[in-house]
This record gives sequence, structure tokens and C-alpha cells, in this order.
Amino acid sequence: MSVTEDLPSVQSALPPGLPAVIQGMLSRRTTNGPFLPGPVSREHQETLMRVAQAAPSHFNSQPWRFVLIENPHTIGEVARIAGESMTELIEAGVFFERYRRYFRFSTAEMEERRDGIHIDHLPGPLKPFTRQVFSDAGLKVMRQLGVPKKLGEDNRKLVQGSPLLLAALLDKGEYRPGELSGFYSIFGLGAAIENIWNAVSSLGMGIQFVSTPMEIPRQWAAVQQLLHVPADLELMAVYRLGYLPPEQPRPTIDWSSRHRKRLSQYVFRETCDVPETDSPTS
Ligand SMILES: Cc1cc2nc3c(=O)[nH]c(=O)nc-3n(C[C@H](O)[C@H](O)[C@H](O)COP(=O)(O)O)c2cc1C
Repeated sequence: MSVTEDLPSVQSALPPGLPAVIQGMLSRRTTNGPFLPGPVSREHQETLMRVAQAAPSHFNSQPWRFVLIENPHTIGEVARIAGESMTELIEAGVFFERYRRYFRFSTAEMEERRDGIHIDHLPGPLKPFTRQVFSDAGLKVMRQLGVPKKLGEDNRKLVQGSPLLLAALLDKGEYRPGELSGFYSIFGLGAAIENIWNAVSSLGMGIQFVSTPMEIPRQWAAVQQLLHVPADLELMAVYRLGYLPPEQPRPTIDWSSRHRKRLSQYVFRETCDVPETDSPTS
């Protein structure tokens, strides 16, 4: 897919012939669908760890730690926990209550806001309820149709079918929430993860957050236990990775989130009083 298709609002204002590294960053994306079952080569795993390590960190403290997980039993357990968490969050309506404000239901809404995620793929029986899907009435319909279970099972399969999981941790000696070093550590880990995220597609791979267990403290504790996280490390996030299949089937409920805000919506000039001017082509 070309960069133009990927990020129309940004690309239209950029000169042609961009360096590959910038093209790569502009086409970075999240993979919602399945990966090929084959293992990720050790060489590629090491490359990803090296790009992570190339990130900036406060005083070069390199507060990040990573666990590369290929053991099918461990992956299966994380998958089970992720699937169960997904079902629980949807069933109880917690997910939509927490995140409703990010959901967009039409191209027009997405065009105007240019942020959030556009729910553009729903199972047939739910389509007439697109706009109500995340309301209380919609939740009732979803429960009746068994959607929470189906979504949980879809999520379990996606994680289970991923050949590689990556856990990202922080050294608690650096990561002290409430202090600046806590912020710096998260900032550094974010930069390290972003390097990985930017690198995967050039290796033919994709990446996605496995976030549902984080939403439920007892499930997050179960993941920590599974990975034998010691007292001096904090588990911050888990990702699934793998090589991309040529065709990428979409999950039962899926979204797209390629829009980005216009310059005038997020950049200011000199002070916060003056929004940046959009270029005529953007
Ligand atoms: C802090 C953070 C949390 C995220 N959580 C999830 C998640 O739970 N599940 C998921 O599929 N993607 C997750 N994402 C990815 C975003 O949904 C995605 O980056 C955004 O929609 C833009 O899409 P893109 O990455 O394809 O450009 C997360 C990203 C960040 C930075």
C-alpha cells in the first residue's frame, strides 16, 4: 500500500521522493489480523531488540527490559487470559464505557474529527445497529448475539496464533511513578517500542498490543506470574508479533484508524495562541 493511501492528510503535503526511513514511519501501522504461524527468525528478533535499544533514554539509563516469548504453552496461557479478559470487558460494558469517546461510526465523522477509530467492520446481524452498538441497548443486543464470547474467542485465537510475544518491562530503580524519572522511563520505553513498531514492516512483520489483560488487575497479575516477573521489574505491556500473510482477513469487529489531524489541529506557531496554517494541499 502506498503512503498516499495510508495517510492521505499527511502525505498530500509532503514532497515526493521521501527517504525510505520517513516513508517507513509514515506507513507504520497496527496489525489487527492474524500472522503466519512460522517462527520469527532469531536474526529478526535480535534486530528488533537492537532497534529498541537504539532509542534515547534519560542519561542513557536504558531502563527497558524485554522478554521474547515463543513457548507455545506460555503463548497459549497469555492467549487464554487475553480472550477471557476481552469477554469480561465487553460483557460488563466496561470497555465501551471506558473508551466510547474514541469510536467513530462513519467516514464523515472520521473526516471531520480525524482522530479515534472508525468501526467499519461489523458482523452482519450487528450492522443495522452500528451507531447503537456501543450504547446500553446495543450492548444488550450484543449479549443476546453472544458477541462478547465471540470477540474473546477471536482475540484468544489471534494471540494463540502469534509465533512471538514480546513483554516490555521497566527497571523499577528508574521507573518511580510520581517522580520525573518515572515519566522519563515511560518516555524512553515508548521510544524503544516505537522503534520496534517502525522496524517490523521492513522485516515483513506486524505487531499489535495485547492490552485486554492490563485492563483487569487480577489478569495482569496472572501474566506477571506466568513470566516470572521479579520484584525489581514492572511489566508495562505485551505485544504479539509475526510475519504477515499475503492476504490479511479482518477480525469479526474491526476498525481503521489511518486518519490524522490536520496541522492546524495539533501544531501551534510560536505560542499556543496561534494554530499552524494548513498548507493548501492538506
Ligand atoms: C498506548 C497505546 C495503547 C494501545 N492499545 C491498543 C490496543 O489495546 N489494541 C490495539 O489493537 N491497538 C492498540 N494501540 C494501537 C492504536 O490503536 C493505533 O496505534 C491507533 O489506532 C493508530 O493506528 P495505527 O497504529 O495503525 O496507525 C495502542 C497504541 C498505543 C500507543
